[in-house]
Amino acid sequence: MRVAVIGYGLIGRERVRALVRLREEGVIEGFTVCDPFAAAEQPKVEAMGGTWSATLSDVRAYAPQWVIIATPHDTAVDLCLEVLGWCDQVLMEKPFGRSLSEAEKLRGASEGRKRLHVGFNYRFFPGIKTALLDARAGRFGSLISVNMLLGHGGSPGMEKGWKFDPVKAGGGCLIDPGIHLLDLCRCMASDIALDCIRGWSGFWKTGIEEETHLLLHSGQTTFNVQVSVVRWRSTFRLEIHGMEGYGIVTGRGRSYGSMKYIRGKRWGWQNAANQEASEEAVLVSECDDSFTDELRALFSQGESGPSLSPCTAAEALEVMRLYEACKNRL
Ligand SMILES: NC(=O)c1ccc[n+]([C@@H]2O[C@H](COP(=O)([O-])OP(=O)(O)OC[C@H]3O[C@@H](n4cnc5c(N)ncnc54)[C@H](O)[C@@H]3O)[C@@H](O)[C@H]2O)c1
Repeated sequence: MRVAVIGYGLIGRERVRALVRLREEGVIEGFTVCDPFAAAEQPKVEAMGGTWSATLSDVRAYAPQWVIIATPHDTAVDLCLEVLGWCDQVLMEKPFGRSLSEAEKLRGASEGRKRLHVGFNYRFFPGIKTALLDARAGRFGSLISVNMLLGHGGSPGMEKGWKFDPVKAGGGCLIDPGIHLLDLCRCMASDIALDCIRGWSGFWKTGIEEETHLLLHSGQTTFNVQVSVVRWRSTFRLEIHGMEGYGIVTGRGRSYGSMKYIRGKRWGWQNAANQEASEEAVLVSECDDSFTDELRALFSQGESGPSLSPCTAAEALEVMRLYEACKNRL
């Protein structure tokens, strides 16, 4: 299997790092990288055993079985549509377009035999994956509420990049990185409706929402979601509360701290010194493998039957429907 990566920035590099590992495991044969704005990286890519494609025609000539698109949001849609014209299997990094109409166009272009997936690597963080599977398996009982917080510490000058440009990014913290949280909501429930939303902006002042608070529900379960790029202390927290117990995931590796997943039972204190002492420490992870794990699951889909799968175009379209419903109320 040959794989092409288009866009060699932060995430293109993560995908290449993952591909090097998957080549060592024998999952893929080789890879090529295309990024006309990063030609200086060619020697480093070649040192890793990859090839450099100067143009999209070179990528096509490489005849990859999979193409990964990791470019800014304003170029990713057209690139994806073009690549789908000659390659049947594409992974586009989230989001699935900048709007519902772009998502619908992408979905339309991937009908039939084509496989279009969207990179939602949060599904593959060990703590999140285990907690979601626990919730699905009914370990916590009927879900009462799910709380999620993703706060990005940020750095000076980030407002000058494309991610803070409303046109290039398509929006603010709700689409990036908030779309990950909407995807996780949809991994737990399908029919999610928005109750209320509140946005804030006023620090970076580039015309995007900088902090968003959302209240959503599905049946009797409330989803309380916060996402921010003005939180200064990088924070990730996922709490799943059910009638029988709960699961709490904190951290996301790197500046967010190690990811820890703990489980607790209702009134666990009855059999322990206190509630905290009754909790089970399920795992600790530095979260270095999510991009590799997502690609391994993608490339081997149908063979090993992973219990949490890479996001399909159909699922990503539903995430964008939810996003647009929220965005329209901001
Ligand atoms: N899953 C995650 O946790 C996560 C985190 C960050 C970004 N992302 C997503 O990954 C994608 C890329 O983000 P990034 O952080 O790597 O951005 P980036 O700015 O670091 O890199 C983008 C790269 O694309 C290149 N590029 C631009 N136009 C191109 C073109 N026409 N052809 C080839 N290359 C082109 C740029 O030169 C740059 O190197 C986005 O969709 C973003 O939302 C995902």
